Amino acid sequence: MGLYSETIFPWALDKALGHPNIMRRRQALVGQASGAVLEIGFGSGATLPFYDPTKVTSLTVVEPSAGMNRRAAAQLAASPVPVRSVPGAGEALPFADASFDTVLCCLTLCSVSDVGQVLAQVRRVLRPGGAFLFLEHVLSDDPARQRWQQRLNPVQRVVGVGCNLNRPTAQLVAAAGFRLDPLPVQEEERAFGALKKLTPLVTGCAIRV
Ligand SMILES: C[S@@+](CC[C@H](N)C(=O)[O-])C[C@H]1O[C@@H](n2cnc3c(N)ncnc32)[C@H](O)[C@@H]1O
Repeated sequence: MGLYSETIFPWALDKALGHPNIMRRRQALVGQASGAVLEIGFGSGATLPFYDPTKVTSLTVVEPSAGMNRRAAAQLAASPVPVRSVPGAGEALPFADASFDTVLCCLTLCSVSDVGQVLAQVRRVLRPGGAFLFLEHVLSDDPARQRWQQRLNPVQRVVGVGCNLNRPTAQLVAAAGFRLDPLPVQEEERAFGALKKLTPLVTGCAIRV
């Protein structure tokens, strides 16, 4: 699993998630970030060029995969904003309470081991009124698609190194002490090709209450 998860998968993910449709959505999401920002599940750094240096005072990125961190090195060196990379996982963020104005996850909550614990940590490190920005693929609203997502989830978890097709992420965020106004709308995403019906996307801005 080491060669696959740390070398082949990061390379394949960059190819798959570098699609213009995904990049456009990343840009729209990241453009909303301001102040002291934390990004969880930074991957190889595809979001980095979109941080606005006139709005973002500092950026901290957390990523547990050594392979992803290796791939991110070039992006980090060319960062448009002051950035520090901290190895670690979203379930145990090594930061003080209320120390960020914005926390951002891009296609990450599908892959974390304990999404409830990560959301509790996001809420802890955000100041009251701070924004949690997310772009995630989620459990479909459509029962027929949901059945396929549930059937194929065990395969996806292996191929996608822990990625799940069946997380109702917007609802989990709303239940974790955030105000989601409005609730995000699901959209199909062409970038996932044949998988697009299994990976509807939601983009949300949740306020920490
Ligand atoms: C699909 S990739 C997305 C990467 C990047 N955010 C992007 O938009 O390209 C998911 C990322 O979440 C990371 N990840 C997995 N489990 C995690 C955890 N518990 N905490 C933080 N990041 C995690 C993976 O290593 C991977 O880099």
